[in-house]
Amino acid sequence: MRATRAEVDLSAIYTNTKQVISKVGQKVRVLGVVKANAYGHGLVQVAKTLIKSGATYFGVALAEEGVALRQYVDLPILVFSPPTDENLESYVRFDLDATINSMETVYALDAFASGVGKKARVQLKVDTGMGRLGFFPRNAVEAFRAIRNLKAVTLVGVYSHFATSDESNKEFAKRQLGSFKNVVAAMKDLGAMGPVEGQNENAAGSPIFHMANSGAILDLPGSYFDMVRPGIMTYGYYPSLETSQSVQVRPAFALRSNIVQVKTFQPGTSVSYGRKYFTKKSERIAVVPIGYADGYTRLLTGRTSVLIRGRKFPVVGTVTMDHIMVGLADDFEIQVGDEVTLLGRNGDLEISAWDLASQIGTIPYEILCMISGRVPRVYLNTDSSITD
Ligand SMILES: Cc1ncc(COP(=O)(O)O)c(C=O)c1O
Repeated sequence: MRATRAEVDLSAIYTNTKQVISKVGQKVRVLGVVKANAYGHGLVQVAKTLIKSGATYFGVALAEEGVALRQYVDLPILVFSPPTDENLESYVRFDLDATINSMETVYALDAFASGVGKKARVQLKVDTGMGRLGFFPRNAVEAFRAIRNLKAVTLVGVYSHFATSDESNKEFAKRQLGSFKNVVAAMKDLGAMGPVEGQNENAAGSPIFHMANSGAILDLPGSYFDMVRPGIMTYGYYPSLETSQSVQVRPAFALRSNIVQVKTFQPGTSVSYGRKYFTKKSERIAVVPIGYADGYTRLLTGRTSVLIRGRKFPVVGTVTMDHIMVGLADDFEIQVGDEVTLLGRNGDLEISAWDLASQIGTIPYEILCMISGRVPRVYLNTDSSITD
């Protein structure tokens, strides 16, 4: 295996989820959000860990992700993006919950399922203010009524998504919550019961209601309904710097490599493409085999640092496809083979996804998702060492 690797600490994912469960209470189900290869951490290992920690539902973005996950889990899997004519079969064959965003979608799925003599599980998506997928609240109750009359689909859930639950000003989030509460009340008036103790979760008439992402789990306890959907918190980051930290989490992800060459450059020598960096004096420079093809984006050029032997050193010159150069100045201790931390802890220092995100004007979500499939994931604290 190549030296460049992402280390994923499964015990962090386990305890982060346990912390979420203790915040929301045992009666509220936890849906583990494992879309995008579990935010870059690795779908299968993360899903197995989430089951151990008490998650009882999974959420993915794509039907393909649901199909891949189905090989490993028997629990319900909700696909957040709606089905297309091309992938209806996956929902029926692999028992995936389809997100219903329009009547056309649900009619197509109903017709397909009935054609193959099966029933499909569906969840109705309500757009209470995210401005993305789903029925507006004024159309949702009507859709609910129509969907319940279809023969080959079972309505197992109704859900919505927050646009601003991670902002300190909760005014809009509370408006969305109020709007969803009205929808839930109207559906309950029509006989939707929510989960019934001891009753099969697929039973008609008892769809579950859910809305809360990480920001809402932290700061809007009134939004938990029957289930919560933590994503970024599972992986150890808060969704923004504006939320409370009412659940303690720690990062699970580290990005590391090892030095492949160290050279001493004469003063005034240029380093890397475009000659953006010149040594000011005699400088030792280390070459590290990671680059933008690994998702260590070229936008970090001139902006970031790495950790070696518990000390911080700047990345100098342009980030290339497969390598970066690190300025060691006149440090003579550091050698070929030394470990380099690009993201994560080393000794007393840490480079967090927030650090890299702020250097390139993005958020930790994107930093975690952008580490490419070329970087092998190495799992720490697997099975045996996970404890409460
Ligand atoms: C529908 C849905 N629910 C929950 C989440 C999890 O959000 P977060 O990572 O902010 O907890 C996402 C991710 O964006 C999502 O798309």
